[in-house]
Amino acid sequence: MTITMRSSTPHIARMQKIVVLGATSGIALEIQRQLARQGRELLLVARSPQRLSELQSDLLARGAQQVLTVAADLAQVQHHADIFGFVRQSFPDFDTVLLAYGAMEDQKTSEASIDVLLDELNVNFVSAAALLTLFAADLEQRRTGCLAAITSVAGDRGRRSNYVYGSAKGALSLFLQGLRSRLHPAGVTVITIKPGPVQTPMTDHLANSSRFAPPERVARDIIRALNRRSPDVLYTPWFWRPVMSAVRHLPETLFKRLAF
Ligand SMILES: NC(=O)c1ccc[n+]([C@@H]2O[C@H](COP(=O)([O-])OP(=O)(O)OC[C@H]3O[C@@H](n4cnc5c(N)ncnc54)[C@H](OP(=O)(O)O)[C@@H]3O)[C@@H](O)[C@H]2O)c1
Repeated sequence: MTITMRSSTPHIARMQKIVVLGATSGIALEIQRQLARQGRELLLVARSPQRLSELQSDLLARGAQQVLTVAADLAQVQHHADIFGFVRQSFPDFDTVLLAYGAMEDQKTSEASIDVLLDELNVNFVSAAALLTLFAADLEQRRTGCLAAITSVAGDRGRRSNYVYGSAKGALSLFLQGLRSRLHPAGVTVITIKPGPVQTPMTDHLANSSRFAPPERVARDIIRALNRRSPDVLYTPWFWRPVMSAVRHLPETLFKRLAF
């Protein structure tokens, strides 16, 4: 784990201190740019120290009031306590946590290799649940704040072509639903973010990816939800809510025949 700290000259900003877990993701990058322009304070966690350093400089130049970074592989649950310890020590009054990391392997590879399958479940669900549990206890004790995590519309129904990724995201959505109920009495908000396909490095190899939602639009929706602490479940862009409602209601006898 590598830790660096730098900050620009402080100026008045709306009080919001955000921890981003998976700060180099295409969606997170756009969220952070927009938050930097609003003068927010950020603590970024991602794997690459070099990309974090570049990101730190870029976000400070765009107006972020403070940018701290931690380099760590978030799938390694044994590192979580150290990461969380650093956050508590250096950014103790953070009020928002956004979990943005994830990976989508080729489904056929996951079918052929148990190791790949377990890695995909770990990065998208097991490690995410472990990390969120650490942050949840802290916010619950302070009786404030917001936890948000990016799952996916892929978690709303198991499909032939991506059910390994989809089941991990579906498990994460269910975990967040229970966590929301647990933290509600403490006044802590939990937001489940379900994007449809977005133009990022995760999808740029897919057919028709140029038609996917631009990350700027998805980032705007996510920031609005973080500011409002609502809705509990955000579909972005918005039309995925009615689309997935229809998809979820298709009878299984029909759905299992659909080749997608
Ligand atoms: N793009 C879509 O269509 C779409 C749709 C629905 C949901 N999502 C979800 O949105 C989130 C962001 O994805 P994205 O679209 O922005 O894709 P992306 O640009 O490929 O971002 C994925 C990020 O996860 C990070 N990551 C993967 N494994 C990690 C690990 N072990 N430790 C730390 N970081 C790790 C990657 O880090 P590196 O930079 O080091 O590789 C990368 O920054 C993901 O949870 C994804 O599942 C995406």
